[in-house]
Amino acid sequence: MRPAIRSAVTSDLEALVALDQICFGDPAWSAESWGAEFARLGTDRVVLVADEGDPVGYVVLLVPPVTEDPVELLRIAVSPAERRTGVGGQLMTAALQRCAGRTVLLEVAAGNKSAGALYRGFGFGEISRRRGYYAGGEDAVIMQWQEQHRLERVDE
Ligand SMILES: CC(C)(COP(=O)(O)OP(=O)(O)OC[C@H]1O[C@@H](n2cnc3c(N)ncnc32)[C@H](O)[C@@H]1OP(=O)(O)O)[C@@H](O)C(=O)NCCC(=O)NCCS
Repeated sequence: MRPAIRSAVTSDLEALVALDQICFGDPAWSAESWGAEFARLGTDRVVLVADEGDPVGYVVLLVPPVTEDPVELLRIAVSPAERRTGVGGQLMTAALQRCAGRTVLLEVAAGNKSAGALYRGFGFGEISRRRGYYAGGEDAVIMQWQEQHRLERVDE
């Protein structure tokens, strides 16, 4: 069954806090941080949920009201049990459909091969790098997408 992709509602908060903990462990956002994200729904945050009865994935976007300002993809994750089944791609497609005419930026750890492959497949390209940005000295890679890229995956 393919999950439905829908906008988050207040009642998703608890499940997303738990799923974030499973997906990220220690660097997960706290319940307070998630609460702050949900408080901004309808202003400058978009949270999309992959729903299979329970949430199995999510993406968080910062969408500034000034359209010249870039959108930031703050977070995307899929339940470990559901990975490599296309859910991340479904979430990216739905997120980028909301970014018509906009530039989208994100930051990813250089060693995060799965996320890097996902982003490159959707047309994101590296525009800069923060060397040694993460604890342990790993680089942060800044990637950019612009609307002229195709929304479907680009096969390499
Ligand atoms: C990154 C992530 C969201 C991808 O979700 P997913 O549901 O597995 O992605 P999909 O199944 O839609 O895969 C789409 C494409 O991404 C790439 N990809 C995904 N996981 C990959 C992996 N482990 N290795 C190589 N490529 C990978 C592939 O190109 C894949 O297409 P394919 O399966 O046809 O080869 C998921 O791995 C995840 O939750 N990671 C932990 C959280 C994280 O690091 N988030 C990013 C930082 S916020």
